[in-house]
Amino acid sequence: MRVLGIESSCDDTGAAIYDLRQGLLAHRLASQVDIHARYGGVVPELAARDHIRALLPLIEAVLDDAGLSRTDIDAIAYTSGPGLVGALLVGAVTGRSLAFALGVPAVGVHHMEGHLLSPMLDEPELEYPFVALLVSGGHTMLADVAGPGRYRVLGASLDDAAGEAFDKTAKLLGLGYPGGPAISKTATAGAPGRFKLPRPMTDRPGLDFSFSGLKTAVVQLVEPLDLDEQTVADVCFAFQEAVVDTLAIKCDRALEFARRDQLVVAGGVGANTRLREQLAARAERRGARVFFPRLEFCTDNGAMIAYAGALRLAAGTRADLAIDVTARWNLADLPAM
Ligand code: KG4
Ligand code: ZN
Repeated sequence: MRVLGIESSCDDTGAAIYDLRQGLLAHRLASQVDIHARYGGVVPELAARDHIRALLPLIEAVLDDAGLSRTDIDAIAYTSGPGLVGALLVGAVTGRSLAFALGVPAVGVHHMEGHLLSPMLDEPELEYPFVALLVSGGHTMLADVAGPGRYRVLGASLDDAAGEAFDKTAKLLGLGYPGGPAISKTATAGAPGRFKLPRPMTDRPGLDFSFSGLKTAVVQLVEPLDLDEQTVADVCFAFQEAVVDTLAIKCDRALEFARRDQLVVAGGVGANTRLREQLAARAERRGARVFFPRLEFCTDNGAMIAYAGALRLAAGTRADLAIDVTARWNLADLPAM
């Protein structure tokens, strides 16, 4: 079975073709970073409009890359939630209509299920079960993945996502968007130990996160300061250490709680060098293994939707003719495969 996958839940348009026997045949991404950069964050209406512009040419391009024509597609999978409604609708309308026109089945995919299964695209050594840390601009989540369709959410952010905290702090310090890479780059010139920021919610049991308090702590920290270049670097250093420590402490706890010895990191914040170093060092200490899938599969992409969709389709799931998207959708509500 050859599945066309479509991702349009936020600010990236993704398309890919996954074959259950041959694996990933093609995938492409159209990024909207340039469109949203001047606003310092994603503008939902602009995101939806750009998905409309980008999606059909992107689908043509992946078909071309794979040397296929539309009639070679056996099914279509599209992200049907959670995400921005206008953005989701573009992928859902396109995917569902195209499937109808081609007379093939369609399936709506849960965006987070796509993320949770994405390491399988690229990590031949990885086998179920594992604990997944998903850290992006929109989500922060720890989940126990026992197998496809068998997820237990162990913890999630009660407010801002980790990437969002990077982006907001960068904005506050006058650094660019997206904030994660900007802070991480600036932090390399920072002096360790000059400032100390809290590690939110690590002093009590549990696996949930909260990053909005950390942002407030940064606001209070910088308020009396003269923000010269060195000071900004020192604040970036302290901020990054606080986020990275917090994530790493919770990952250790999650591995212990779920009794797993494999950790997979996905999402844009997974690109952070300090986070990678810390998680690798801690994993080694406890005899666990940590996997960082290729960055293009960590961040939003069509390949993970094609893959998760292929598994769902193989398990018999089908979308009916109604075009449905779900802005808020709990992973725990997914049926087992
Ligand atoms: O997964 P992603 O590309 O998009 C979604 O949010 O779905 O993640 C983007 C987030 C942004 O908040 C960005 O600031 C953050 O990932 N990010 C980083 C780094 N690279 C990207 N955060 C920290 N360090 C980085 N090197
Ligand atoms: Zn995502």
